[in-house]
This record gives sequence, C-alpha cells and structure tokens, in this order.
Amino acid sequence: MMPARMYDLTALKAPVEQTPVVCRDLVSAQDFSPEETKSLFELSHIIKHRPADFRGALAGKQLVLFFEKASLRTRLTFEAGMASLGGTSLFMDQTRSLLGEREPVRDIARNVERWVDAVVLRTFAHSTIVEMAHHTCIPVINALSDLEHPCQAFADFFTLEEKFGDLSQIHMAYVGDGNNVAHSLMLAAAALGTSISIATPEGYAPDAEIVATAKRIGRTTGAFIEITHDAVKAVTGANAIYTDVWTSMGQEAEAAARTAIFTPYQVNEQLFSHAAPHAVFMHCLPAHRGEEVTASVIDSPRSIVFDQAENRMHIQKAILLLLLGSGMRTSPPRSNHA
Ligand code: CP
Ligand code: NVA
Repeated sequence: MMPARMYDLTALKAPVEQTPVVCRDLVSAQDFSPEETKSLFELSHIIKHRPADFRGALAGKQLVLFFEKASLRTRLTFEAGMASLGGTSLFMDQTRSLLGEREPVRDIARNVERWVDAVVLRTFAHSTIVEMAHHTCIPVINALSDLEHPCQAFADFFTLEEKFGDLSQIHMAYVGDGNNVAHSLMLAAAALGTSISIATPEGYAPDAEIVATAKRIGRTTGAFIEITHDAVKAVTGANAIYTDVWTSMGQEAEAAARTAIFTPYQVNEQLFSHAAPHAVFMHCLPAHRGEEVTASVIDSPRSIVFDQAENRMHIQKAILLLLLGSGMRTSPPRSNHA
C-alpha cells in the first residue's frame, strides 16, 4: 500500500510554519493555480494506473453531496471514487427542495462541518456554492452550477493530455452555449497553456469577467483565448471540437427558442471538416443527437466522450485526495465569482 503523501506534491505545498492552515475549496476552475492543476493531473495519472495503491487513503473520511439537479456521471464518479479510496459518501437529494429553502445555507454549512469532511454541491445558483464555502471550514467542491463545472473541465483536459501529450501545443474549439462548461474549460485551458476558441450565437457569449480572468492567466501560460460568433473560424485547424447541450438544466422553458438560435452551431460532419485531420470530438454528456451534435460525429471513432466520462472518476479521486489529504490545506486563492 502506497499512500498518496509518498508522491511528490511539492508544487501544492506551502511552508506550513509560514502559512496559516485554512481550508481549500474547488468552487471555480481558477481556484487551482496552473502549477496545482498540473500536479492534479500528475496525481490523477498515478491514481488511474495504480488504483490499488490508494485503497484506504481516505478511510474514515465522509463526503456529503447536495444535488439540486439530476446527475449520472458526477454523482456516480464521486460516490464510486470516494468508496475506492476507502471513504463514505452521503447523498442529499435537493431536487425537490433547493438548498436554502428550509434553512439558510450558512446554517447548513455550520452543521455539516461538525459531521463530515467535505461537501460536494450541484446547484442552480453559483452563489449557493460560494456561500457554502464562505461559511464552512471543510472543503467545498463545485459539482456544477449555473456558472461553472470545474471537475468536468479538469477531466476533459486530462483526457486531452492522454491523447495529445503537451497541452500547450493544442487548440480546443468549443461551439455552443457560453455558460458553465465553457467557462470552466476556458479557465482550465488558460491555466494549462492550451489555446481555446469559444464560438457562440450572439447573446450567448461567455461571462465577460471570466473571459478577462482567463485572458489574464493565459498571458502567463501562453494560452490564446478567442471569443467569436463564427463557428467555422473557431474550429479551423482545431485538435478538439467540444460542444454541450443547447438547453441546460433549469432552462427547459427556453428550449424551442434556443433550438432556433443554436441550430447554425450544430457540430456535424460539415463543421468537423474544418478541424485538423486527427481532431477529436468532445462532449460533457448527456448529449442530444440531432441537436448540438449529429450521431455521425458523436458515434464515430474520433469521439472521446466516454474517455472523458471515465476520467471524471480519476480526476475527482485526485481532487478528493488533495483537498481531504494533506496536500492543499494552505494558501487559498479564493474565487472572486460570487
Ligand atoms: N457531465 C456531467 O456532469 O454529467 P451528469 O450531469 O450526468 O453528472
Ligand atoms: N450545461 C449543462 C451541462 C450538463 C453536464 C447543464 O448545465 O445542464
């Protein structure tokens, strides 16, 4: 048995004597520095290939998951991942009663820290996750909000690193709605030095503050960040084309209007023909064949959607180890997206 602390995680550690021990969270993809993100990938790689070495690494630890929205991948990968590390998960179904309706989020925060070791939240409002993180001293992990989906983005770039190697040499094109998944992809790309083009219809561009943050980080890592309404321009020469649903959870009333607006942004054979010859197709799933992507693309050999789904578990196991273990208890760069 080789516990996680035996691996070299020096990039994640600040001198304990000089820095007060405070809790680290993953509310936004920008909460992990570029160095920490690279270390996360190194640990994920080891966990993926030597899972037995980490059995029992989180023995006795307990995770609570509060989900206001449906989930297959995120819930199962957290629960299975926690179990394989020797810990326990408790699922709280909040789909019928949103967090904060029965009692204030800050009171929930101050209760759960007395019982469990970390909180995973899937919410409508990003502010719910920010508030939980603000009021509790245990790690809080964003499992998707209206603003971000950081665990997804980290798994996606980890998948691309497996396929292509050096992430600073590739170009991702995201085509679709500039919301939660696009935001976290952009921030993760910036941290990893990966160039990214985001193509959306007018009125659906990513949040300007997140774009500015990604561009600022990108200037330090060499990542080129492009925001456009031209899907062909975005995908031309790209190594990976990524899309997400046109109607996210909670937007169902807008579905018909969105279908009309997003149809020119469908990822199909014709759009894919502009990408690099070896380009891969990516999607966070669930996917709607015939809407944001055609079956001929998502069911083709160039699709890596199930590799992405698999890697959700490996990356989240590494996140849990880092946040619940000893590796990331210091030096918090708090997300400023309230
Ligand atoms: N991609 C993703 O987060 O899937 P779920 O909604 O099924 O968790
Ligand atoms: N944008 C989608 C992602 C689902 C994983 C949603 O928020 O529903």
